[in-house]
Amino acid sequence: MDKKRRPLLAANWKMYKTLSEMEKYLSSFLGLVAGIDDRDIMLAPNYTCLNRMVELLNGSNVKVAAQNMFYQDEGAFTGEISPKMLLDMGINTVIVGHSERRHIFHEDDELINQKIRSAISHEMKPIFCIGETLEEREAGKTSRVLEYQIRLGLKGLQNKDVPKIVVAYEPVWAIGTGKTASLEQIQEAHRLVRDMVGELAGEDIAEKLRILYGGSVKPANVKDIMSLDDVDGALVGGASLEPESFAKIVRFEEN
Ligand code: 13P
Repeated sequence: MDKKRRPLLAANWKMYKTLSEMEKYLSSFLGLVAGIDDRDIMLAPNYTCLNRMVELLNGSNVKVAAQNMFYQDEGAFTGEISPKMLLDMGINTVIVGHSERRHIFHEDDELINQKIRSAISHEMKPIFCIGETLEEREAGKTSRVLEYQIRLGLKGLQNKDVPKIVVAYEPVWAIGTGKTASLEQIQEAHRLVRDMVGELAGEDIAEKLRILYGGSVKPANVKDIMSLDDVDGALVGGASLEPESFAKIVRFEEN
């Protein structure tokens, strides 16, 4: 499948897997994706697995990302992890603004913007999550919500920094529910995001931006989703927890 931008298939493991479960996963996953070099493959485990995972993936075609970080380098912020600490482990990609962070841990657009700016200033790559709730979609507010999240998320960034970000469109109602957005809904939202970024930062820059889809992605639907013009990859939760299933997603394979 020819894509305009290099595809990125990223697994968000959320709060799953112990160290030994992670090691077992890698012992099979690495073989299943060996030799794939035309797309980026990434795993985002919980913090306790990060360090060991970096060691185990050294020299492989699979990269490591963190699921979250705070924006300061150090200080009295109990329970938080900083960009400096992630970089120290060799990790330069971080998921920011996931809907579970927004809704369960009450992160707002301003905090998410601070995290994105911090990531950019540390030469890290943020995977910036946006998406509307079911209520917002049913009220016809999807484009307004996405525009608001994009505008606030990218506030204060220089245009040249925008392509360093990866945007992940994850409609909240499709996360962990088994309900995938329709192909029309996905393409429409991704096009909208690209157009908005084009208005903010210029069309050339928007054309370089990678936009991932997330929400009940699985082997059975990945090929169709990846065939959409403005979809450049996937951020996968549940179906990334088994190595066989995530390897099929990486290959855009149903079976
Ligand atoms: P599911 O793939 O389990 O729907 O989760 C998507 C997600 O939240 C990825 O960040």
